[in-house]
Formats: sequence, structure tokens, C-alpha cells
Amino acid sequence: MSSQETEYHSNDFDWEELRERIENDPTLGYHLVPFTPQSPSSSSLDSQSWNQFHSRHSTGKFFKVKLFKGYLFVQERRYLFKEFPELSSCGEYSKVLEVGCGNGSTALPILRCKENILVFACDCSTEALDRATEIIHASNVVSARSRFRPFCWDFSMCRFPKWLICDSCYENSDFDNNERDSTAVAECFSVLKPGGLLLFRDYGLYDMTMLRFEADQRVGFREYKRSDGTRSYFFSLDIARDLFLGAGFMEVELEYCCVKSVNRRKQKTMHRVWVHGKFQKPM
Ligand SMILES: C[S@@+](CC[C@H](N)C(=O)[O-])C[C@H]1O[C@@H](n2cnc3c(N)ncnc32)[C@H](O)[C@@H]1O
Repeated sequence: MSSQETEYHSNDFDWEELRERIENDPTLGYHLVPFTPQSPSSSSLDSQSWNQFHSRHSTGKFFKVKLFKGYLFVQERRYLFKEFPELSSCGEYSKVLEVGCGNGSTALPILRCKENILVFACDCSTEALDRATEIIHASNVVSARSRFRPFCWDFSMCRFPKWLICDSCYENSDFDNNERDSTAVAECFSVLKPGGLLLFRDYGLYDMTMLRFEADQRVGFREYKRSDGTRSYFFSLDIARDLFLGAGFMEVELEYCCVKSVNRRKQKTMHRVWVHGKFQKPM
């Protein structure tokens, strides 16, 4: 067993016990009450905030970018191949689309583990895409440079570009309609080949970082805005299920990943919750 495998757990505590504790804590009651937004948020402001976020963290301290023997290394996702072994067992010349790729810390290990895989990666922040390209070009995986296909895209504003969709899906879709009237999940459905998998990992309900938000940072039910303008939403299994099944996917896996980690310096135990899901487009 490698050191990476020994380090990663996904069931360190019981989510139902966490839920009970949170929902019975009167100091956290403001997270549970319904919320009516005053005014809809502007999507262009959101992408500006992400752009600023990425330029502020470009030095690499935040994402733990390291220089070793002349090559750049990013802190890679420990859970990635454990939770999503399909990424390493997929066929030759498989195509992956990463939606919201950030600085490439997920794209790089995928490119590294599979010789011929192509990774299309979009983000609404040009800063993030520049960082990702820089990191992938400075890595020791020379062939990754030509297999990484970044493009700037705000999926809350417009449909995915036509060139992303395969011919048969294109023929069976209304892709020429450029109006953005579908959800981001429906967009992912439309560019995925039949039988293809959507791999989902995002913040889960009652994650430690959710409970740290103050009442005045709420911008929606289970949605919060940081002081830098970027937002976080915390998914429950029910919401994720409704979203993906509503767009036509079939559920393959859906669960909370509960990871306990200890900050030895601050002597604090952190209870992290993610929603892990795999959904398939019917054949
Ligand atoms: C939490 S980061 C995740 C980065 C990356 N997937 C990883 O694993 O490191 C979320 C990313 O989504 C991008 N993002 C947020 N809203 C977006 C949108 N509407 N369209 C495209 N990208 C978006 C942000 O710029 C940011 O890079």
C-alpha cells in the first residue's frame, strides 16, 4: 500500500450523527432557516471575483505549488483515483472534461496517469487557466502539454461550445439553439457521450467550512459569500440526486464522504464533508 493510500479515508465519522449534533445546536440555527434572496446575483461579478481570487493566489502558497528538481508540482488530489478509479482504468484516447478546473491540480494527475488521455478543461477565470497551463507546461509530463485543452467558459451564462460535443450527440440535440435556458448539469449531459460518466465531488451539507460562515454571509439556502466575493454552496444528497436525475442521468453512486483531519499546530479536529457522486448518461 502506498503512503497516499494509507492517508486517505472517506468514512471517518457518521454523517447522521453530525447532522443531529448540528441541527440541535441553537448557535447554528441560522444555517437551517429558509432564505429568500433580495436580488439575483450577477454572474459576471461572480467570474470577476474568481479571477481576482486566482490572481491573488498565483504565488502558489494557497495551492501549495512546489518547485522540485526544476519541475513544478501542485498539491494533487489525494482522493482522486481512490474515489474515481475510472479515471485511471478508462480506455486509450478517452476524453475528460473538467468543469471549473482551477489551477490544474486535478487535471495534472489525470494527464500523468494515462498516456493518451485528453483533458478538456474550462474555467470562467482566465487567471486560473493561465495558472493551469503554466503548471502543466512546467511539469515533468512532457506529453501532457499537448493533451491539455483549456478554454475560458462561464457555464452559468452560456452553452458549451459546439466543438465539444460528439457528432452523434450533436445530431440528436438542439445544440444550434444558443440560448442558455438549461442548467449547467443539463449542459454536461448534452456534451457527454451515451454511457459516459459524470464524476461529481463538491462541498457536502454541514461541512466544517459551512458552519464557519456567519449569518450575514448567507446569500441563499445553504449558499454563502466569502469576503472576496466568491461563493460556496453545500449539497445534500437529495438536492444532488434531484439535479442529476432531473437532467436525465442515472445514479451509479451517491454518498457523503466524511473525512476527519487534525491540525496538529492548532490542536483542532476538522470534520470535512463532501458529496461524492457518479452518474451515467443512458446508452
Ligand atoms: C473550488 S475551485 C475547484 C478547482 C479544481 N476543480 C480543483 O479540483 O482544484 C472552483 C473553480 O470553479 C471555477 N468557477 C466558478 N464558477 C464558474 C462558472 N460559472 N463557470 C466556470 N468556472 C467556474 C472557479 O474559477 C474555480 O477555479
